[in-house]
Amino acid sequence: MYLTKFDIRIIIFIMKYTAREVKEIFLNFFQKNNHKKIKNSSIIPENDDSLLFINAGMAPIKNVFTGEQIPESKKMCNIQTCIRTNDIDSIGDMHHLSSFCMLGSWSIGDYFKEGAIKLAYDFLVNELKIPKKKLYVTVFSGDSKRNLPADEESEGLWQEVGVEKSHIVRKPFEDNFWRMGEGESPCGPCTEVFFDTENEKIKSYEETGFFDDKNRYIEIWNAGVFMQYLQHEDGTYSKLKMNSVDTGAGMERMIMALNNFKSVYESEIFMPIIQLIKNNVPNCNEKSLRIIVDHIRSSVYIINAGVEAGNLKRGYILRQLLRRAIRHLKSIGANETLLQNIARSTIENLDKCGLNPDWAFTKEEIIQKITSEQEKFSKLLVSGLKTFEEFIANKNNIKNGKINSALVFKLYDTFGFPFEITKELANEKGLKVDDKEFNELFDQHKNISKGETGKVFKSGLADVSEQTIKLHTATHLLHSALKKVLGENVNQKGSNITPERLRFDFNFERKLTDDELMQVENLVNNLIEKNLAVICEEMDYEKAKKSGAIGLFQNKYGDKVRVYSIGEYSKELCSGPHVENTKALGKFKITKEESSSAGVRRIKAILQ
Ligand code: GLY
Repeated sequence: MYLTKFDIRIIIFIMKYTAREVKEIFLNFFQKNNHKKIKNSSIIPENDDSLLFINAGMAPIKNVFTGEQIPESKKMCNIQTCIRTNDIDSIGDMHHLSSFCMLGSWSIGDYFKEGAIKLAYDFLVNELKIPKKKLYVTVFSGDSKRNLPADEESEGLWQEVGVEKSHIVRKPFEDNFWRMGEGESPCGPCTEVFFDTENEKIKSYEETGFFDDKNRYIEIWNAGVFMQYLQHEDGTYSKLKMNSVDTGAGMERMIMALNNFKSVYESEIFMPIIQLIKNNVPNCNEKSLRIIVDHIRSSVYIINAGVEAGNLKRGYILRQLLRRAIRHLKSIGANETLLQNIARSTIENLDKCGLNPDWAFTKEEIIQKITSEQEKFSKLLVSGLKTFEEFIANKNNIKNGKINSALVFKLYDTFGFPFEITKELANEKGLKVDDKEFNELFDQHKNISKGETGKVFKSGLADVSEQTIKLHTATHLLHSALKKVLGENVNQKGSNITPERLRFDFNFERKLTDDELMQVENLVNNLIEKNLAVICEEMDYEKAKKSGAIGLFQNKYGDKVRVYSIGEYSKELCSGPHVENTKALGKFKITKEESSSAGVRRIKAILQ
């Protein structure tokens, strides 16, 4: 068949890579290369206090890198929803998002740099057919202060597979040494692939020597974190027992590159929602639009994981995202009811694009949670904005372009403005705020008015509502009942609690029989009916261990630990919180028993 230029243009126009396709191509490629597809996880980390949200595909399996956990396979891949709000300031540009799908692949003690670089090149150039000239790679330049050598090996390997030397950029520790966060994490030098979004006629890095990774070159794949070290909480490193590879690509950016979009927002993941807003608010500013659609999508994911908006940890992140979206909706002049439609369209579109989580709530429930935050914040927003304007109108309140921190704190404390909102308002006026001073005021205030509550939970609870606290206590009873029915060597492997249900993972080789499940359920209910007091004691770590308390996170506890006992039936190291007496729990019911991973079973249960 003969195609005219016009036909070709039509085909190029129609043939866009969608999320579904990119996911499929990625998984097929790695499966074809003998990687086992593993399950993805909730965005709330299980038993990992070092992280608020899963921020990379490797986070749920971080213990396989240290050898603490046996991987399902030495070569694995999956697609994991991630939340990252550390660069919330950048959202609104062409490619930063607060939630995204990570295309991840791993070699656990199997291939290392050579294998990873070959696979990466093969995938990008042969499978996806991205023109070589569009690709640049970065390698770690070494860090003498930390005694970490430059990654010359990767530099050589990229050239061997076919990347020109002029397309390889050396980058320092801050850019090319990857870890999960500041806490304990496997880590190592990494090599990243960047896509050139510019027209080739404009002088490139090769000619200018300037690698503009803010605007022109976007990172599309961390094609190899070469896991060799363990970062400790005190910032030191030790060598891991084996070398592994962790890779992660942001699917949304990959779609942008493959379709030659100008931003991640042009894909089918965001376009319908952007269009909805544009239909209602003509001429609105692009940055606000992007912030709104990004933040509402992340909020939907976070709410669905069971988090309630609040002033602490996960709840605070959710509040920050929602309130920031609400303020941008106001700034573009949107009617308040538009938010519900945006939320509805976001949820429906996630389904349509195949990016939906397992829904734990109905669409209407999620919308309701979003609009309830809007109800709380809308009035405060109007009066807070007025206060802000009046305050900055007085020149005495501004020194060297910096707004007096008392205002920033007042906006937070009295008007519910997350710090990020005030910072953004200030930036829009060409002014600055001081986050250190704000944090000092915040800490002072916390110590005066809230005392201990500032610390709150640590126990895999998504929030601290009354129901999650009850479910948390029920989890301890379940743990002890499982030991009674199935044997003492049954131990907790994971726990996740939402206001609706508890989920408990434990080591056991086979499916539980109906009879065993009934015995466990009855045992928990018997304990509840005994009206047992739940006692919390603080003691030294060693004493707690000797007392026979069970606990999962031994190496993370400090010297003093809390031990929660429920009558003589359960004694666990745990930071709480719990109910005071089991009589508060009501009736315990197991709703599901299934496999979680090899040798690990999962129980879901509710309180009625
Ligand atoms: N885990 C690799 C990355 O997040 O870049």
